[in-house]
Amino acid sequence: MDFSIRTGSPDKLRTGCVVAGIFAARRPSAAAQAIDRATGGLIGDILKRGDFEGRPGSTLMLARVSGTPFERVLLVGLGAEADLNEQRFREAVRAAVLALRDAGARDALVCLPDTPPAGRDMPWAIKQTAIVALDTLYRFDRMKSAPDRATLPLRSLALRVGSREAAAAGAALEQAVAIGQGMALARDLGNLPPNVCTPSHLATEAAALARAHRLGLEVLDQRDMQRLGMGALLAVARGSRQPPRLISLTYRGAGRRDAPVVLIGKGITFDTGGISLKPAAEMDEMKFDMCGAAGVLGAIKAASLMRLPLNVVAMVPATENMPGGNATRPGDIVTTLSGQTVEILNTDAEGRLILCDAMTYAERLKPAAVIDVATLTGACVIALGHVASGLWSNDDALAREVLDAGQRAWDRAWQLPLWDDYQEQLRSNFADFANIGGRPAGSITAACYLSRFARKYPWAHLDIAGVAWRSGREKGATGRPVPLLAELLIARAGAGVGASAGSTRRPRR
Ligand code: BES
Ligand code: MN
Ligand code: ZN
Repeated sequence: MDFSIRTGSPDKLRTGCVVAGIFAARRPSAAAQAIDRATGGLIGDILKRGDFEGRPGSTLMLARVSGTPFERVLLVGLGAEADLNEQRFREAVRAAVLALRDAGARDALVCLPDTPPAGRDMPWAIKQTAIVALDTLYRFDRMKSAPDRATLPLRSLALRVGSREAAAAGAALEQAVAIGQGMALARDLGNLPPNVCTPSHLATEAAALARAHRLGLEVLDQRDMQRLGMGALLAVARGSRQPPRLISLTYRGAGRRDAPVVLIGKGITFDTGGISLKPAAEMDEMKFDMCGAAGVLGAIKAASLMRLPLNVVAMVPATENMPGGNATRPGDIVTTLSGQTVEILNTDAEGRLILCDAMTYAERLKPAAVIDVATLTGACVIALGHVASGLWSNDDALAREVLDAGQRAWDRAWQLPLWDDYQEQLRSNFADFANIGGRPAGSITAACYLSRFARKYPWAHLDIAGVAWRSGREKGATGRPVPLLAELLIARAGAGVGASAGSTRRPRR
């Protein structure tokens, strides 16, 4: 998909289809008014006759509009102007793109960024428009024998802005395209079946990224892990025929001495639960248990496409979690890379076991901050549903930074407590602590477990179990939290654009 920024009055710009917003109660936006004048009152007529109300998410395609530089006009309902919020705005863009796709449009001029929701600016609307368009048009059909391509694809979208806003719009668009590409990578990796997307496949993908973007690459294998003493990561890998990997990709946008932001993504390429076997229903969705890994790879790809002036490391502990004669048993005690011992009471709480050794390994990078991203607990889905990622942190400024980035990206997180009171649930009679804390506050005790490996740096933990993929008819990876992570890196790099209505606070360095 090609995106461009166009300035000038919408009625003067040549396009296959011009897209303009209509507010509820048949109130045309400024762009719709300009088109109305150019078409001798066409839109006014339609609105007057009650053919289009402007209800949120509704669309009306008008074909063969004579006497204008465009062949078609697409009206998109925005709802009441006072109620135009971020979600409504995104819904309108999604509806417009679907209508364009279904009508077989090849190119269009989208005037929706004219009307950003309250508290947001035009660059924000540009960014969201491009990201939502890419998100809507994404498809994953590489595993189909004959992909169905009914209509010709939408090839190019021009986004219209006022001429004084063109520079900011261009910068916003560039970032949006980078974020969209990072999301698409994350979705592709998440959607791949678990017999294809193995730990070694993730390493191969990381190597391809390293080549394409000139990133540093390190891949540890099982022997390296043994030599280093990564007993927890190895304990999860024991049951699988697939060898584990610990992948590190390094993007250097700043000087060598600049401490990196380290993003650690859970890379369980299939989670059966191990000996603590999961029930059969929907177990296929546990191929998505590497969406944390996919997210950090997508984020570092976006950072490098944006050429952000900062250093980033994406680290991915990758393994399957399988049962078998060699698998870890409930009751086994292992020694983590940190030296702390863990009683594995449930082999299905495996994410924290692979993350903890990666977190200790990250200490040698002297990170400015570490953010781990994981489809860690079913309990987080119960707590926050499919809307917000769960956030925990040992550093209030970093937590604020993550929350603000999520707010700007509209890829939101919600903070939960990491109080010592919960740590007691991890008590073990036999080892330093256990890997589970019982049913109450399951996602909090998971975070408490991880916090014991984050003593050396500011750390935040994102539990993306509820947001990384959709189930049912629309089953598939979402690409979250790539937008959040990308906005956080943008802010750290001081490259903010389209970032209104989050905090304006400067992030800590
Ligand atoms: N990958 C799962 C978490 C998960 C489950 C995410 C369902 C999304 C949907 C994780 O490894 C897991 O199995 N967690 C257990 C932890 C429990 C044994 C303490 C869980 O949430 O049940
Ligand atoms: Mn599990
Ligand atoms: Zn898991």
